[in-house]
Amino acid sequence: MADYLLAIDQGTTSSRAILFDRGAHVVRVAQREFPQHFPRDGWVEHAPQDIWDTVLATCREVVEASGVAPEALAGIGMTNQRETTLLWDRATGRPLYNAIVWQDRRTADFCQQLRDQGHGALVQSRTGLLIDPYFSATKLAWLLDNVEGARERAERGELAFGTVDSFLLWQLTGGRVHATDATNASRTMLFNIHTQQWDDELLGLFGIPRGLLPEVRDSSDDFGTAQAEWLGAELPIGGVVGDQQAALVGQACFEPGMGKSTYGTGCFMVLNTGDRPAASRNRLLTTVAYRLGGKTTYAMEGSIFVAGAAVQWLRDGLKLFKEAAETEALARQTRDGHSVYLVPAFTGLGAPHWDPKARGAILGLTRDTGIAEIVAAGLQAVCYQTRDLQACMSDDMGVSPGTLRVDGGMAANSWLVQFLADMLGVQVDRPTVLETTALGAAYMAGLRFGWYRDLEEIAELWRCERSFTPSMPEAERERLYGGWLEAVERVKSTA
Ligand code: G3P
Repeated sequence: MADYLLAIDQGTTSSRAILFDRGAHVVRVAQREFPQHFPRDGWVEHAPQDIWDTVLATCREVVEASGVAPEALAGIGMTNQRETTLLWDRATGRPLYNAIVWQDRRTADFCQQLRDQGHGALVQSRTGLLIDPYFSATKLAWLLDNVEGARERAERGELAFGTVDSFLLWQLTGGRVHATDATNASRTMLFNIHTQQWDDELLGLFGIPRGLLPEVRDSSDDFGTAQAEWLGAELPIGGVVGDQQAALVGQACFEPGMGKSTYGTGCFMVLNTGDRPAASRNRLLTTVAYRLGGKTTYAMEGSIFVAGAAVQWLRDGLKLFKEAAETEALARQTRDGHSVYLVPAFTGLGAPHWDPKARGAILGLTRDTGIAEIVAAGLQAVCYQTRDLQACMSDDMGVSPGTLRVDGGMAANSWLVQFLADMLGVQVDRPTVLETTALGAAYMAGLRFGWYRDLEEIAELWRCERSFTPSMPEAERERLYGGWLEAVERVKSTA
């Protein structure tokens, strides 16, 4: 029986391929960044070819470097940046336009119009989402209305829509599979999370022909076979799950009330709410955590658009350091309690503000502010925003989460995680495997391939590397957080 499987993690700024063994150990990793395109203020695009090329290249690299024969692999599990929208030709597989990335705000006015017309309650009750450019529906409508001939061709059944998972499945299977999983579907704003079906009323509202849509499957399911030409052997694809839900699985948050926060390009705090699709009074999202054997588990999610992307901007935009890893030493140089705030609203503000027209700012500069303070402020912004979400979740669920599990690239920064524990006032646990997102995809595929009996067996594989306990005095925590709230008010478009 095969002892390894390949996890594909197609993220916002890079594609990664990771080989896991049955014990959930990382055997080999390959990663490639790819270009981000910003054609106009608030627009973010990816070239579909870059997505596919970097996925294929990293998969090949990892398999070759590991020395494991391709036919000895159990198969593939996939996870992906969610919501990012692609439209392609069914006959040739060629995309009609760049992928419109989840961060893209081009449909802000359309969303405002839909809200003004009073459609918010319908959308929220069916999808668990708020009308915002973040989700796929208005991006797809934009493509149909702005790419010449697209709407007519869509009506004729010649085109296919998909989030990145569907696009990659199409590529890997040579156009044989047009599918997605329930977690990815739940981010399109077209999917009824209660009935687990595409919603005709919403399709009508956004003007989306049904024939464009992929088939929705469980997160652990048969997603077809990757053709032998890609990796040297035919490989079954046994799991597909959106990246934030994958991280929830990788962190083994299987009980209601367990939550995780992932610090990648953005930051996403996700709380398992079991079989209950809990609605938020605080403008958080209700979403599908995973669907197994036709049974849906739900989650509440707070989505922050910029986390690691702020570090990337400090590095590449301002050129304040060369490697992200330097940020920890820089932050340690700052004196405690400095009052510089960086509000990274580069593409507006996500939860709980949902202000697509807000833009970023650095506030509280003094004559002695230096690079270290600005970098520390970038890291702290992520923690303050997590606290914003924590407050909303506690209010919605009526309980404060006891501990929080963290992962993603930024969670390697111990200064940041300590500040996070201080700001939240709860214990923060960091697992041994920080590749949690890819691990979640591997678990979904592993369940399909018979590697694991059930989620309990998977939960036993979770290991804590380090726990961070809060040590900041209450008054200081509140003073710093109060400054953050004031800074956010200053950048809002309605301020
Ligand atoms: O919803 C967007 C999210 O899926 C992107 O995740 O890891 O690329 O920041 P990431």
